[in-house]
Amino acid sequence: MSSDIVVKNTEMDYRKDRPKAENPVKVMDLTLRDGHQSLFATRGRTEDMIPVAELMDEVGFWALETWGGATFDAMHRFLNEDPWERIRTLKKYAKKTPFSMLLRAQNLVGYRNYADDVAEAFVDRAAANGMDVFRTFDALNDYRNFETVVKGIKKTGKHFQGCICYSMTEPRMGGDVYNLDYYVAKAKELEAMGADSICVKDMAGLMAPYDAFPLFKALKQAVKAPLHLHSHFTSGMAPMTHLKAIEAGADIVDTCMSPYAYRTSHPAVEPMVMALLGTNRDTGFDINLLARINEIFEKEIVPKYRHLLADNKMSIIDINVLLHQTPGGMLSNLVNQLREMDALDKIDQVYAELPRVRKDLGQIPLVTPTSQIVGTQTVNNVLFDEGDERYKMITGQVKDLCYGLYGKTAVPINPEVQKKALKGYQRGEEPITCRPAEVLEPELEKARAEIKDLAKDMDDILIYALYPVTGKRFLKWKYGVEPVPPEVMPRSMEDVKAEQELVVKAKAGKLTEKKEKIVPAMSENLRKFNVLVDGEYFEVEVEDIDGSPGIHAVRQAVPPPRPARVAPAASAPARRAAVVSAPKEPAPAAVDDSGGTPLIAPMPGMIVGLDKKEGDKVNEGETILILEAMKMENALPAPISGTITKVNLGVGDHVAKNDILCVIAP
Ligand code: CO
Repeated sequence: MSSDIVVKNTEMDYRKDRPKAENPVKVMDLTLRDGHQSLFATRGRTEDMIPVAELMDEVGFWALETWGGATFDAMHRFLNEDPWERIRTLKKYAKKTPFSMLLRAQNLVGYRNYADDVAEAFVDRAAANGMDVFRTFDALNDYRNFETVVKGIKKTGKHFQGCICYSMTEPRMGGDVYNLDYYVAKAKELEAMGADSICVKDMAGLMAPYDAFPLFKALKQAVKAPLHLHSHFTSGMAPMTHLKAIEAGADIVDTCMSPYAYRTSHPAVEPMVMALLGTNRDTGFDINLLARINEIFEKEIVPKYRHLLADNKMSIIDINVLLHQTPGGMLSNLVNQLREMDALDKIDQVYAELPRVRKDLGQIPLVTPTSQIVGTQTVNNVLFDEGDERYKMITGQVKDLCYGLYGKTAVPINPEVQKKALKGYQRGEEPITCRPAEVLEPELEKARAEIKDLAKDMDDILIYALYPVTGKRFLKWKYGVEPVPPEVMPRSMEDVKAEQELVVKAKAGKLTEKKEKIVPAMSENLRKFNVLVDGEYFEVEVEDIDGSPGIHAVRQAVPPPRPARVAPAASAPARRAAVVSAPKEPAPAAVDDSGGTPLIAPMPGMIVGLDKKEGDKVNEGETILILEAMKMENALPAPISGTITKVNLGVGDHVAKNDILCVIAP
């Protein structure tokens, strides 16, 4: 069949009973997964999907994407929702349209490779709970990471959609790595694995329309499986790219209902329906039905999520993506990370370092989790490298990547960087070349033994196996062992209305502002205190007025070094206030009263591992503890050789930049 698009009927109206097109474009709706993941930090709740589920089932979508990606994590962590329950609930309302999920291959719905036994159980349970299409991708496009899950998908008789992550090293498709031959070869590999359909996953919206055309033409010739395009709007190109891909023969495209479309999300379905109306590729969708669904979203659902929109920018396009060929989410992560470290002025250095780090690490595609791995290492290099020495602080994840734990990179890793990363690496200094999961011990029985009676079935065990800390906490909420905290409760339309009324009042000038007090001149009796509230430091000036002390001024202050103290247990109440010290002058950082050399936190984060304790002897450079920042682990080495005289913090504690973590005496 020719793939040219031809207008067949110019007198066509919107009726849903219009003549069927010869080769209708199939559409997968992403509103209920990638849509709210892209716009609203994955916070969409099942109760807000129910009002539209029955109607969406009537549209005629090829599939509804309802699960996977970050939803499993967000649901049990932030929403107090059982991820498995969402599939079963939505299935009651949308009975006809297949459900699709995004599966990160051996990473499942987490951020690392899990052992084969966990992967097998996960796919089996996802299918049993109602998943029909398994859209599977690997961040490195290393399909050895597909082997276990694909076996599982095939065993359950479900649809295996194989993805190729779309990546580039130049402003347009081509170059030595991600060229046409690369994509054709990957598609053939997927077909050989039994892919029921093949998807090009353009997670950053990098694909240009005139690259999509030759790409889909070539893929159409190379493989028989239906071709699917997933592209994000972020750069603004996606609607044009979709159209050119359709012209080249793409069978299925991804869209969102318009209230969940555009920005970092996806093209909207409605313009696509109208663009193809009356052609040989007419979707056949009823535009009036789509309008009814939109109205429900606009009136009843979106108001609860609006506040989660990441920015208030006028432009809905991120042109930085066009400038740097880097995912939008990754760019905003980098900015946040630099801001946390008071180093936002180094953003241009970060943009310059990013392609170098990516090249050193084998030109890997930038998608979860590799975008975080490359991004954090880039920031570390910019902040901590000195003189000629590069890669001074290598994250644990970069070490794993160099070891081969994520799979094979597109081109070999820079051998010098690899050697440095693997020096003293716990699994071995020699990288592996086998399928990564082959070096992983089974995990399921261990998880079952650890979680004991708190897990009632395999679904519970998997929540814990994938997310030990937050998963266990969720199971305690689920079974009433611990009360559900208010921050994971849903936001009601009443809350939204109350807020909107306040805004209206404020705009009408009916909210009165408290008058600022006139600050009296400071006297010599003024004393300064540094106060710690909830992990934030304030400088408080206190003055004796008529015999009673009054607070004079409170300013947020740079944290002074803390005197050594016993770390509070991880479960200590989060709200605590402590007067720390009352210095006349702020004490210089990195000095300890005992005369030892302190280990200073180079960045804010959480202690996730403590290899040493008080009294231990250490050699300079030996790892003392692991600090997690932006989901990446950083091993902090001993600054000198000697004996640890103090350890100020424990596992689970949050630290600020420049905190003294421990002290070593020579
Ligand atoms: Co996506």
